[in-house]
Order: sequence, then C-alpha cells, then structure tokens
Amino acid sequence: MKAKIQNDLMLIIKFKQCIMLYLYKILLLMKERVLIIGSSGQIGTELVLELRKIYGGNNVIAADIRNSSNKIIESGPFEKFDVMDKTKLFKIVKKYGITQVYLLAALLSANAEKNIELGWALNMRSHSHVLDLAKEGLIKKIFWPSSIAVFGPNTPKNNTPQHTIMEPNTVYGISKLSGERWNEYYYNKFNVDIRSLRYPGLVGWRAKAGGGTTDYAVNIFHEAIKHAKYESFLSENTVLPMMYMPDAINATIQLMESPAKKLKIRSSYNLAGISFSPKEISEEIKKHIPKFTISYKPDFRQEIANSWPKSINDINAQKDWGWKLNYNLKSMTSDMIRNLKRKYKLAV
Ligand SMILES: NC(=O)c1ccc[n+]([C@@H]2O[C@H](COP(=O)([O-])OP(=O)(O)OC[C@H]3O[C@@H](n4cnc5c(N)ncnc54)[C@H](O)[C@@H]3O)[C@@H](O)[C@H]2O)c1
Repeated sequence: MKAKIQNDLMLIIKFKQCIMLYLYKILLLMKERVLIIGSSGQIGTELVLELRKIYGGNNVIAADIRNSSNKIIESGPFEKFDVMDKTKLFKIVKKYGITQVYLLAALLSANAEKNIELGWALNMRSHSHVLDLAKEGLIKKIFWPSSIAVFGPNTPKNNTPQHTIMEPNTVYGISKLSGERWNEYYYNKFNVDIRSLRYPGLVGWRAKAGGGTTDYAVNIFHEAIKHAKYESFLSENTVLPMMYMPDAINATIQLMESPAKKLKIRSSYNLAGISFSPKEISEEIKKHIPKFTISYKPDFRQEIANSWPKSINDINAQKDWGWKLNYNLKSMTSDMIRNLKRKYKLAV
C-alpha cells in the first residue's frame, strides 16, 4: 500500500515537471518575434506559415518588396518594404521588437546572371544590413541561406564534402561564398548567432520557383499536369542535388532550434537532398501521367548547372544537429502531383 502511494506521488511529481517544462518552452517561444524578409518567394511562402504554427501568427512578421499570398497577409503582420533601405529595416525591427531574422530576399542564379549589378548589390547589401542588426545587439539570431552554387567547376562533383575547393563562377555563387565568409567573420569577431544551410535546388508546389538553375524541377510538374509535356532547359542527363520543400523547411527550423553549442559550422552547412536528372524525374512523372513527354533545349543555365556538384555529403549536419532526410524522388513526385492536381482542381 505504502509503495503504491509512493509510486503515485512520483508519477504526479513527474507529470507536474513535464507540464512546467512544456509551459516554460511555450513562454520562451512566445517571447520570440520573427521577421522573414522575402516572404513572397518560393521558400518564404511556406516557411512563414510553418513558423506561425510554432510562434503564433502575430509573432511572425512577413516582409517583402511585393505582396505575399492572401494566406500570409491574413494570418499575421505583413510589411511591404525594400531590404536595401537600412533605416526602414531598423525601424521595422524596433517596431515589432524582433528577436530573429530569416533573410530570404536574394536574386537567384539565373536571374543574377542577367543582372549582375543587382545580383551583387541585393545579395551582399541585404546580408550586411541584417548582420549589422545583430552586431548592434538588436536581434539575437539570424538565418541566411547559402546554396550549392558556392561550389565551382574545380570542386569534386560527387559526394562533395563540406570543406573543399570553392571556386564559383557565377555572380550568385560568388555572392553566396562571400556571404558565408561574412557569416563566419561576424560569428568569430562579434559573436553573432548566425545559422546557414547550403540548400540544393528546392522543389515545392505552393509557390513558383524564383529564377534559379534548378527551376526546371518545379516547372516540369506544372506543365506535366496542365499539358502532359515539358521542354527542359537542362540536358537529359544533368544530375543536380535537389530537395523537396518539406525537408528544406524542416532542416531550416531544426537548425534554428538547435542549441548554439551543437553548431560547429557557422559559414554554412552542406545539405544533400536527392540527386536526379531531368530524364530520371520525367520517368518518375510518367508513372503517374503515362502520356507525359519531355524534350530538351539547353540554354545558358546549362553552363551554370555544369559547374555545380552532382551530389553532396552532409555528414556534418547529420552529426552536429541530427539532420535526417525524409523524401526520395518517388515520394516527392507522388506528393507534388497529388497536391498540384488538387491546386488545379483536377481529380486526384
Ligand atoms: N529556391 C531554391 O531552390 C534555393 C536554393 C538555394 C538557395 N536558395 C536561397 O534561399 C533564399 C530564398 O530563395 P527563394 O527560392 O525563396 O527565392 P525567391 O526569388 O522565390 O524569393 C525571394 C523573395 O525576395 C523578395 N525580394 C527581392 N528583392 C527584395 C528587396 N529588395 N526587398 C525585399 N524583398 C525582396 C522577392 O520579391 C521574392 O519574393 C535565397 O537566398 C536563395 O538564394 C534558394
């Protein structure tokens, strides 16, 4: 009898401790105010909604130079502004008491090659504005995405390691590699808590791709569903590392929530994803849409793709903060097709 009472008491104490820990965690999360710059883009469209589930709608401020989706504007605050305007950025951060910034505004690889001045100016200046916010003690944490574009033609192409030859030959890649160096510098010199991932090409159904070299892997799904055919701007056997958006969003949030002491890389972590070619993804699509056909007409983006790795080694991300991939080519393809059919109101 006595043992049973003791046992029950222990259970009640443990239960109370769990509740206290849970409430403490909620209180900590509620104290965070997150600013996402670039909320109308491919990643922002999805990341804002996920972060609002965690921190609450009013604690996640979406911002972009153009309007974001209705879902974003209706589910929390939205600021339309140009991140090149440092004074306005500082005002927004003070107005909302921002503690974390996710900087997603950038000119992507293909678009930056068409406008190298804007590519360099936007990618570098927006980054230095946000780094200065942290250096001046206004915010606590930054997420800034890098890319596989930091690698170049002399980088080992297969299973590309974290630390290797980095000689990017695009304005986008040069800006991302410079950004990585600034990350490490600000972390070492000013103790800025900056976290970063070298995203592979991202594939998602909620938003359009933003002008990169891997956009074909998003466009192919839309065209397959609407017209059952697609003309690829990359050649059939061009293998590149890609990732399904839910995995990219998970990796981002997981990295940002990891204890600082676990993170050994402050420039940017390699992130592997799944490697496939236009031919391989078209064969997977054909399993769902048998009459689908693909043709190939490589353009200037082929040269960019040729300079990038085919596959990435992300062992550091796995070891340091427990990164694990969920989707492969098969599961990504069926999920994309199911969601896009629903979006275009076709029978699933
Ligand atoms: N999508 C990918 O496959 C991929 C891969 C590797 C890295 N990344 C990186 O992730 C980040 C986000 O990528 P994305 O695909 O969402 O890009 P995107 O082009 O779809 O979105 C960028 C957003 O930034 C906004 N923006 C541009 N200039 C701005 C300005 N001056 N002020 C405020 N907002 C401005 C744009 O309106 C756009 O909505 C970028 O840094 C990109 O380099 C993306």
